[in-house]
Amino acid sequence: MREPPDRIGRLPEQYFTALLARVAAAAAADGEPLVDLGRGNPELGPPEHVVAALAESAARPDVHGYAPFSGLPALKEAIAARYGAVYRVDLDPTREVAVLPGTKTGLMEFALSAVEHGGTIVLPDPGYPDYFSAVALAGAQHVSFTDFDIAGDAMYLNFPTNPTASAAPAGVFEHAVDWARRNDGWLLHDFAYGDLVFDGREPQSFLAAEGARDVGMELFSMSKSYGMAGWRLGFALGNAELVRRIETLQDHAFAGIFRPLQEAGIAALTGPQDSVEERRATYERRRDRALASLDGLEARSEGTFFVWFRLPEDLTVEQILVEHRVALAPGEGFGNRGTGWARLSLAVADETLDSGLERLRAAFD
Ligand SMILES: Cc1ncc(COP(=O)(O)O)c(C=O)c1O
Repeated sequence: MREPPDRIGRLPEQYFTALLARVAAAAAADGEPLVDLGRGNPELGPPEHVVAALAESAARPDVHGYAPFSGLPALKEAIAARYGAVYRVDLDPTREVAVLPGTKTGLMEFALSAVEHGGTIVLPDPGYPDYFSAVALAGAQHVSFTDFDIAGDAMYLNFPTNPTASAAPAGVFEHAVDWARRNDGWLLHDFAYGDLVFDGREPQSFLAAEGARDVGMELFSMSKSYGMAGWRLGFALGNAELVRRIETLQDHAFAGIFRPLQEAGIAALTGPQDSVEERRATYERRRDRALASLDGLEARSEGTFFVWFRLPEDLTVEQILVEHRVALAPGEGFGNRGTGWARLSLAVADETLDSGLERLRAAFD
């Protein structure tokens, strides 16, 4: 068989595909049923009115053809209105918003649209593993973020952070904008967990920082705020030139998103918003339970639906999986600096979380 082209060959092993396979193999082995706290797959679905909007729209005969390639204008207006109301950011929906089939796509499209082959992209370490994939796909190289003196052509930021569950430190976006100006570089802020912040913090959009849209864009996902992960809907917002490049790429690679899905997205963004707060509060309550249970370990979570904690020295994630039947996401897959740490997901039913925590306590005793 012929070798694959380099752009396929250089893609790293997909972290979550490998993790799911490992967990499935462990689940199939003899032993107690596995408790899976490894995967960040929201277990709380969207509110009923959103599902009803999808069903009603799909029942119409006129919605099954190709939707406009660049998305419904009303959907762009709906997300721009939400940005105004929630994050106090004023966006032009016609120039500063692109509709995406999930923000994971946007992670790839940003690298392809912002950086030349051979360029350098600065990534968080530990950080979301798909950033490595985006860099590889674009034929770029990555360096781990150290401080804002680092050189590069583009930088990925992510607050609240997967996997470390950190909220944005004060001033970080302003420093990033300054970095982009000095380096003539582009910024991408991955805001996938934007609304999921704890302890009275306000959601903080990168685009609220002065000059942000001159040098970068932000990704907003419907997956976490509205429990619509499987629906595949998100947005790239901010710099009009990057938005245009992304829409150009999508004109070539996709042919729009199913209209009923977009109409249900409008219903989610413009209808009652209480589910967003309920979801946030649910994760905060579970976070409290998890931190109390991991007492004595170095553990933290200021947002997202994860807890990031340092493993006891004598234990690995693999041992916890095999011997204690709890799946966690191993820290080293998120970057070298994740070694010795693990990510625990709160996006599971309360009973699942409780039984997982009980087993972890037994493992750490
Ligand atoms: C940090 C981060 N960014 C982006 C994504 C992708 O989200 P989606 O493609 O569902 O919008 C995820 C999903 O888990 C994530 O954790």
